[in-house]
Amino acid sequence: MTVADIPLGLKLARQAGWNQMESDWRRFLSMQPEGCFVGELNGVSVATTAAFIFGPVAWIAMVLVDIDSRRKGIATTLLKHALDFLDKQGVKTVRLDATAAGQPVYEKLGFVPEYPLARYQGSPPISDCGLRIADSTRDANPQSAIINPQLKEVATFDHWMTGTPREKMLIRLFEESPEITRTMHRDGQLEGYITGRRGANATLIGPCIATAYAGPTLLGEALSRCSGQPVFIDIPQDNAPAIEIAEKNGLSVQRHFMRMCRGERIADHVEAIWASSGPEKG
Ligand SMILES: CC(C)(COP(=O)(O)OP(=O)(O)OC[C@H]1O[C@@H](n2cnc3c(N)ncnc32)[C@H](O)[C@@H]1OP(=O)(O)O)[C@@H](O)C(=O)NCCC(=O)NCCS
Repeated sequence: MTVADIPLGLKLARQAGWNQMESDWRRFLSMQPEGCFVGELNGVSVATTAAFIFGPVAWIAMVLVDIDSRRKGIATTLLKHALDFLDKQGVKTVRLDATAAGQPVYEKLGFVPEYPLARYQGSPPISDCGLRIADSTRDANPQSAIINPQLKEVATFDHWMTGTPREKMLIRLFEESPEITRTMHRDGQLEGYITGRRGANATLIGPCIATAYAGPTLLGEALSRCSGQPVFIDIPQDNAPAIEIAEKNGLSVQRHFMRMCRGERIADHVEAIWASSGPEKG
């Protein structure tokens, strides 16, 4: 895939009702240019996928096939190609978030289910609990800009909590969306961060990786800043406190995803994932 294929990526994302914008596709191509692929049928480009390598762990995303070209084995062929690429790079684990349509395709390729996530959507009301959460914890004082020395600290914290060295993705997200990005410390110690990005249908809040101390404040404050606007948040179903905050802000489940894995399992801390980074890119 090259920048010239971005219109195809946008067309397929719109067909599927997905949220990506041109800036997302540019980020994918800059993160792993040799891991982004286009599938052709009789010389016509009809499919995409993107594979991102974070040290020993890889994520597969953007598996999209044109509606008129489905059930012909295109996703399977493209995924085999992406997996071959990842195996040759020595990756030990491949993960992805599967839609209901994608899960059977991935299972046939050796992926096993790990845990479910739900996408919450809605528009947080202006005077709802998001504001109250932010107000009641004003002392906690989340900080806005992530400056360079902090980036290492945030990346190390994120690696510990997710089991994945995602610095190259985080640096891009922080740069793109400073208005959504916050960190929170206690006694000089990082307790969590949150970021997000604008989308075609809604602002995607996440990732938010945080302790039980910081998660409610970071998530509640982000929701209150998005009052009256459409938002999406992808939350692991085992993170009950995060779900409670989403529901108190008037959000409801739009659809479910299954986090899946091929190869060595990763020990991530699901209770620290208050918002996942989006099923399109792990
Ligand atoms: C999910 C998606 C990527 C699958 O793409 P696809 O190219 O249709 O996938 P494949 O053709 O490889 O496999 C789909 C099914 O067709 C079957 N199939 C493959 N070749 C076939 C053929 N020649 N004739 C009939 N069926 C065939 C496969 O066995 C598979 O069956 P299953 O659903 O019972 O497992 C596609 O439906 C899509 O883009 N959906 C919207 C976006 C989405 O959900 N993406 C997945 C994100 S996780």
